[in-house]
Amino acid sequence: MHVMEPANQTSITVGHIVVFGNEKGGCGKSTAAMHAVVALLRMGYRVGTIDLDARQGTFSRYIANRYYGNIQRDKGTPVPRHLGVMQSLAPTLKERMDDESSHFFAALEDLTRNNDFVVIDTPGADNHLNRLAHRFADTLVTPVNDSMLDLDLIADIDPETGAVRGPSVYARHVMQVRESRKKELNLPMRWIVMRNRVSPLNMKSKKDIETLLQDLSGRLNFQYIPGFTERLVFREMFSKGLTLLDMDGAETGKGLSASQLAARQEVRYLVHAIVPEDMRIALMRRKRDAAASAMQQTQNSTKRG
Ligand SMILES: Nc1ncnc2c1ncn2[C@@H]1O[C@H](COP(=O)(O)OP(=O)(O)OP(=O)(O)O)[C@@H](O)[C@H]1O
Ligand SMILES: [Mg+2]
Repeated sequence: MHVMEPANQTSITVGHIVVFGNEKGGCGKSTAAMHAVVALLRMGYRVGTIDLDARQGTFSRYIANRYYGNIQRDKGTPVPRHLGVMQSLAPTLKERMDDESSHFFAALEDLTRNNDFVVIDTPGADNHLNRLAHRFADTLVTPVNDSMLDLDLIADIDPETGAVRGPSVYARHVMQVRESRKKELNLPMRWIVMRNRVSPLNMKSKKDIETLLQDLSGRLNFQYIPGFTERLVFREMFSKGLTLLDMDGAETGKGLSASQLAARQEVRYLVHAIVPEDMRIALMRRKRDAAASAMQQTQNSTKRG
């Protein structure tokens, strides 16, 4: 969260922008974004969402499923305010970039003012919208599929020896964006790298990947977190617009399954890494103030009665 000073000098708080990004398809950006959004909403944060991969639209479909499911279920499932930004079809590159920039800024303007967090899902490709999102990320979350092959997203690895030769093209891009944000806007960018679809089997390769990522986290200055195991519960509720964080076990009468409980911990870990300390404190204060005001209202109405 950062504070802007607009022309009239009134300080306004602007939502913390969380971007789920990398340049590789199918690593779990949309899945991780959906789960983080639901966790943040359930904690009591105000959340807005933007889909920059609106043509594929996984994130948008999920939110739409959640919205319509909510109407049917009538259960007050929290839903974020959601906007999609499409790639422009304007004839020239310059027009396309201008078009996309103006839609992106309009979406940010709309959502950052009334939300604690704005969560952005990006396409698995290097394009203008994706680059824009990275520039505005207060926190960037990069999921990496749990295989040596997919680690080339973060680092250039010698296939023979497994030694790290240097940062990947994507990691270099992130470092450049970070530097220019610092220089031009004096804003930091936190970078979280999470593993995804971790196999409960294959302990040897699991350890190798963990060691490598931990080593890289120091060199490239990102926070490494263990991320999500490969689990059916991360995808089976998509069509209902739900996640395991919406379940309390009463649905089946049997309580939550071991897999649901473990998945819940994995999501909590991710969200714990995402939420900055000052926002954690701000939420506690807001809840305390809301409770105090509710108590005051009860006392007033008791006195009147
Ligand atoms: N931890 C997991 N356990 C089980 N399935 C998963 C997990 N993470 C992702 N998946 C599945 O993997 C597929 C790809 O995930 P997802 O769509 O989130 O990736 P993505 O990075 O957003 O892809 P794209 O780059 O195409 O947008 C989906 O079918 C999703 O349900
Ligand atoms: Mg996606």
